[in-house]
Amino acid sequence: MKGHQKVSSEKPIWDRSSSGVSMTRPARRLMIWLILFISVTYIIYTLKIISTSHPCEQDPTILQQRPQKKAISVAVEAVAAEQEPTDLKNVVFGIAASSKLWKHRKEYIKIWYKPKKMRGYVWLDKEVKIESDAAGEQNLPPVKISGDTASFPYTNKKGHRSAIRISRIVSETLMSLDSDSRKNVRWFVMGDDDTVFVTENLIRVLRKYDHEQMYYIGSLSESHLQNIFFSYGMAYGGGGFAISYPLAVALSKIQDRCIKRYPALYGSDDRMQACMAELGVPLTKEQGFHQYDVHGNLFGLLAAHPVTPFVSMHHLDVVEPIFPNMTRVRAIKKLTTPMKLDSAALLQQSICYDKSKSWTISVSWGYAVQVFRGSFSPREMEMPSRTFLNWYKKADYTAYAFNTRPVSRNACQKPFVFYMSNAKFDQELNTTVSEYTRHQVRHPACGWEMANPEEINTIVVYKKPDPHLWDRSPRRNCCTVLQTMRNNTLWINVGVCKAGEVTEVK
Ligand SMILES: *[C@@H]1O[C@H](CO)[C@@H](O)[C@H](O)[C@H]1NC(C)=O
Ligand SMILES: *[C@@H]1O[C@H](CO)[C@@H](O)[C@H](O)[C@H]1NC(C)=O
Ligand SMILES: *[C@@H]1O[C@H](CO)[C@@H](O)[C@H](O)[C@H]1NC(C)=O
Repeated sequence: MKGHQKVSSEKPIWDRSSSGVSMTRPARRLMIWLILFISVTYIIYTLKIISTSHPCEQDPTILQQRPQKKAISVAVEAVAAEQEPTDLKNVVFGIAASSKLWKHRKEYIKIWYKPKKMRGYVWLDKEVKIESDAAGEQNLPPVKISGDTASFPYTNKKGHRSAIRISRIVSETLMSLDSDSRKNVRWFVMGDDDTVFVTENLIRVLRKYDHEQMYYIGSLSESHLQNIFFSYGMAYGGGGFAISYPLAVALSKIQDRCIKRYPALYGSDDRMQACMAELGVPLTKEQGFHQYDVHGNLFGLLAAHPVTPFVSMHHLDVVEPIFPNMTRVRAIKKLTTPMKLDSAALLQQSICYDKSKSWTISVSWGYAVQVFRGSFSPREMEMPSRTFLNWYKKADYTAYAFNTRPVSRNACQKPFVFYMSNAKFDQELNTTVSEYTRHQVRHPACGWEMANPEEINTIVVYKKPDPHLWDRSPRRNCCTVLQTMRNNTLWINVGVCKAGEVTEVK
């Protein structure tokens, strides 16, 4: 029996019968079938355990210890990869750009695109000069030239027929991928050349949805009139939107026929929506995608972001730089510092009161802190103040698709704004420390007998990184004013609200 033992320890279980163990023929056959049956059952059972178990509970070492043939372990790996939560490697970006504006607009793409971690293409109407020696040029996604759309009808008098080319980017991107590179694609994310994504937050949003189902995810315009003219069921292209893989496949099969049915539409995103309507897939609204169809100063919107991850911003050439006294591109770049420290918390609002001084304080983490004389309730503070103007300049606040509050006329209620000037992680304190410096503008005289926020020059905000913020139910963070002796600096702590902690006006 020496040979038998040797074989049994080296060969897979179904090969044992060849080891010369003497048996009658029918008995041997039965044995083979029995062993085969057990093995197959075992394999199916193993695969089932893996496919139903939670990804976090998988221990890769356990998988490796199991005696399996190579083909099976490859299958197991594929199943395991399927179960992994969505990450950047599962996303393909499609960026709509034009050769005319490329030289300027590519600077926005360089801010957020990371070629080592991301996959994507810039789709242009024609070739552009690649300035490979220019700064950050190697950070741009590869350029592709869109297919010819001259045969498609376009009859909108106000728009431009490039809309057809741009609406085909998702399909063209899908077609450009070979079967091997399609394998781990779960989402196609579209954006314009003047869209800036916070990709960590994009992933946080996409993880909420099953990529094997058909999803069309994005957001509306800030302008009620835009939503009436276009659609309240459309993902605005500049804010960016995500299309799950199965939906992209379904779309690519009908899109060219579909586009030909809507020659009178204006843009690319309304053409996309028209085809979505034909497929019967509605828009899944996610408020963190920002079209920013506004003019003027975004401050009011950025200082009172809804309680949802901040995913994108757009129309950066239309609005003023988000930090004063800076170019638009530099101002956006500045946001990447807090973004790296705690992307989930970027631009999240928290509201608290300095009771000794009777001030209301509103933090927009990583961006700005406002100090108001007097007490404002949270329901007032979470409404964006109208520092911006309507997309249709004649329209007023009644034409926004959300609540806003007026900029106060009372001289005493003009907020003191502190813009983020510095942010870092303090190893010793084990927390992020962001600094905000007072914006030096003249304030009207105020007769109220109360501390003047002008005495404060710097606000320091402590906040522990909280990457799992959005794994919990949405809730605004709480802030507390820390009592200190220094007169011209205010220290604030921002974090998860403690049990029973609420923002109460006193
Ligand atoms: C604007 O920036 C310039 C150069 O960075 C600086 O010299 C100037 O003082 C700044 N102005 C204000 C109002 O902050
Ligand atoms: C730092 O804080 C985190 C929680 O934010 C905690 O998990 C970690 O253990 C802390 N590290 C040290 C060295 O205290
Ligand atoms: C802080 O302000 C108080 C009065 O508000 C004053 O008496 C004190 O001298 C100030 N301290 C510093 C360090 O400026």
